[in-house]
Amino acid sequence: MTDTTTATPQDTHIDLTEQERAADLNIQELKRLVGLVDYDETKDPFPVTGWDAIVFVVGNATQAAQYYQNVWGMELVGYSGPENGNRDHKAFVLKSGSIRFVLKGAVMPDSPLIAHQAKHGDGVVDISLEVPDVDKCIAQAKAAGATVVQEPETVSDEFGSVRIGAIATYGETRHTLVQRTIDGETYAGPYLPGYVARTSTFVKRDGAPKRLFQALDHIVGNVELGKMDEWVAFYNRVMGFVNMAEFIGDDIATDYSALMSKVVANGNHRVKFPLNEPAIAKKKSQIDEYLEFYNGPGAQHLALATNDILNTVDALRAEGVEFLDTPDAYYDDPEMRERIGEVRVPIEELKKRKILVDRDEDGYLLQIFTKPLGDRPTVFFEIIERHGSLGFGKGNFKALFESIEREQDKRGNL
Ligand SMILES: [Fe+2]
Repeated sequence: MTDTTTATPQDTHIDLTEQERAADLNIQELKRLVGLVDYDETKDPFPVTGWDAIVFVVGNATQAAQYYQNVWGMELVGYSGPENGNRDHKAFVLKSGSIRFVLKGAVMPDSPLIAHQAKHGDGVVDISLEVPDVDKCIAQAKAAGATVVQEPETVSDEFGSVRIGAIATYGETRHTLVQRTIDGETYAGPYLPGYVARTSTFVKRDGAPKRLFQALDHIVGNVELGKMDEWVAFYNRVMGFVNMAEFIGDDIATDYSALMSKVVANGNHRVKFPLNEPAIAKKKSQIDEYLEFYNGPGAQHLALATNDILNTVDALRAEGVEFLDTPDAYYDDPEMRERIGEVRVPIEELKKRKILVDRDEDGYLLQIFTKPLGDRPTVFFEIIERHGSLGFGKGNFKALFESIEREQDKRGNL
């Protein structure tokens, strides 16, 4: 049960991250937005503070950086590219609230990013996490049998130093671990050493919300049939993540396709990873479609937390973002109305925008899903507004998956 109204003395045990402070967020807001919980970091063998950055490899980072500013209301804050010595690729750093996206696109014809993009299409290459002690995490990762892809090293520039290391996770995805404070000194640059501050001439339209999302809630990983439990065990054993919820079998099956899903979270629940695998059904699972077009396991969707989903969705639609459709029957079903009870807005407002509602013993959540963001039917976004519920919309899975299947069918992949 999460109390979102009163502060307890324990609240002081969670510190805001640098990014949250810069975004003017507070602990109470974060408890409501992303279900942040109190926990004792000193007993954690692999303490994780929160997200550091989500790194995407894309076919055209220059244009994608504009898309995320113009459409998703993000702010350009940093850059690395040929102009400042990085001849291989361009990288744009964008922020919204406490979350940072880094978009990388190849410049050199022999850049390794080209092979990555050719194989996977646009996608998430690195779910980078902020940690208080990289060496402790890497030592734990090694002891627990994880693949270390980068040994801890300190990198510096005129803004100070960070210590980074990296471990491999599913597919060709990695977790770079970033320690931003070394011996009491916090790195003061726009992102990492090698990046320079950068702004753009883009100006938001009159009346546009200050930002469309405040934080990142969760990232779903799609893995192969039979591999979900292996990856749950990986996050338990290597990174000390805890299991949050479990959905199996009928919970998330439609007449045609099915999947299984389990959720792991870090100690303070800032970082939540639902892990999906396809389940056997009459037709091809949406997870199989992802695995085929992403060419292996990878990040499927990123859930962006907002405190005003109605305004966010209206703004995104006005910019041309397409969302999955929900039939009117979903909103008119008396059983569904009974189940969700009272929410902060009239159901008609949700119906108009095709926003889904789910309720559990802790509260409710509002959510909606975009269509795939790129050319391949792989990565997409969820917009989520939590009101106490720490779930992932289990009650909506059937309606949601039927909607996904309609799209899958249009693509000839069902
Ligand atoms: Fe989700």
